[in-house]
Amino acid sequence: MSHQFPEHFYWGVSDSAHQTEGHNHNDWTAWEQDHAKGLADQAQARLLAQARYTGTMPDWATIKQQATRPYNYISGAACDRYNRYGDDFTLAKELGCSAYRLSIEWSRIEPVEGVFDKKAIEHYQAIINTLRQSNLEPFITLWHWTIPRWLRDKGGWTSKAVIDHFCKYVDVVAQALATNVQFWITINEPLVYASAAYHQGIFPPQHTSWTEYMRVINNLNRAHTKAYAVIKHTNPAALVGIAKSAVHFEACHNRFVNRLIKTRADWWWNYRFMNKIIDSFDFIGINHYHHNLINHTLNQNENERISDLGWELFPESIYHVLNDFSRYQRPLYITEHGLADNTDKYRAWFITETLKHVHRALADGVDVRGYFHWSLTDNFEWDKGFWPRFGLYKIDYATQQRIKRPSADVFKNIAATNQLAV
Ligand code: BGC
Repeated sequence: MSHQFPEHFYWGVSDSAHQTEGHNHNDWTAWEQDHAKGLADQAQARLLAQARYTGTMPDWATIKQQATRPYNYISGAACDRYNRYGDDFTLAKELGCSAYRLSIEWSRIEPVEGVFDKKAIEHYQAIINTLRQSNLEPFITLWHWTIPRWLRDKGGWTSKAVIDHFCKYVDVVAQALATNVQFWITINEPLVYASAAYHQGIFPPQHTSWTEYMRVINNLNRAHTKAYAVIKHTNPAALVGIAKSAVHFEACHNRFVNRLIKTRADWWWNYRFMNKIIDSFDFIGINHYHHNLINHTLNQNENERISDLGWELFPESIYHVLNDFSRYQRPLYITEHGLADNTDKYRAWFITETLKHVHRALADGVDVRGYFHWSLTDNFEWDKGFWPRFGLYKIDYATQQRIKRPSADVFKNIAATNQLAV
């Protein structure tokens, strides 16, 4: 038996500029330089702090060596994607992909306030041309968590001025790439960013303020709505969406109190942001990694299988989030899904099982139009650095060699045939 996916279903891989390009000069690179030693010294303590919420701890013995070295936390040359994009697109093509999601680095386009770098713009034009020549549909994220340093110095996403700055940048990029890009993602996971940077104090600038947290969410909200109009003004035929972190909150035993908590969690994390931009998206990018079982309190997951980061691997949850987000009656693209799995122990299983549930959602009539695996290659995993390995291809960072993991062939068999054998 096999599960056939709809005709024109996009199969892709997904990544972001800062995590792959190398040699950026933004707020993150500055923070990495200043904090690498502290991050290395506190690596275990930070994971233990996370474990207090998730109930799981990564296998410290296997990651200790890398996680305790400062250079792990400095993005440096990263995957050298800035130079190797052509070869990497070839790898994606060989995996049967028909689409590629990547982001534009704002700090390259506008290194100085109001000064737009022609060379950087041409670089991204060349990237898009290469994607087109390879028959890979570009899905372009305009903002994936890094900002130019001049903007950081003005208060970053807490400042009101950020909205106009963002729209000017979006306007320049939209005009430069208009003829070649149909799918635009304005912002990647607004709540994850706002929470990690301004509430939990994990990402730069590591603030822990409720008022700033709320202000940043509101600014991201307004920035999306305005950017939507800016892109449409340049190209009315463009399709503009957002990449939303979608969590499956599950009420244990369907108990009343658990359902109550679920309703509130869903509202806050999944729906509130979307409801505020309700008239300003043509599709939703679903970034899905987490299931959250509620039993009087959050995160009571069974954790039968976990990734190297300690995240539960629960394939069924995608079925629920796809159904949940179908309420917006717009096409859904799974713009991120994947796992940190250095030894490739679970990746093939996780992809296959997850796609069975995507197929189930399709059979229910949910309008899912693509699946993008995070990620083509290993890359720089933000405050955790290089040790979490998300790639269908492993990277040997000493040589930048790409080494195919066995799960890549499993993904390829599905993507290239547009069907899943079950
Ligand atoms: C982010 C990616 C990140 C991935 C795995 C998503 O929340 O968009 O940048 O690498 O999760 O943690």
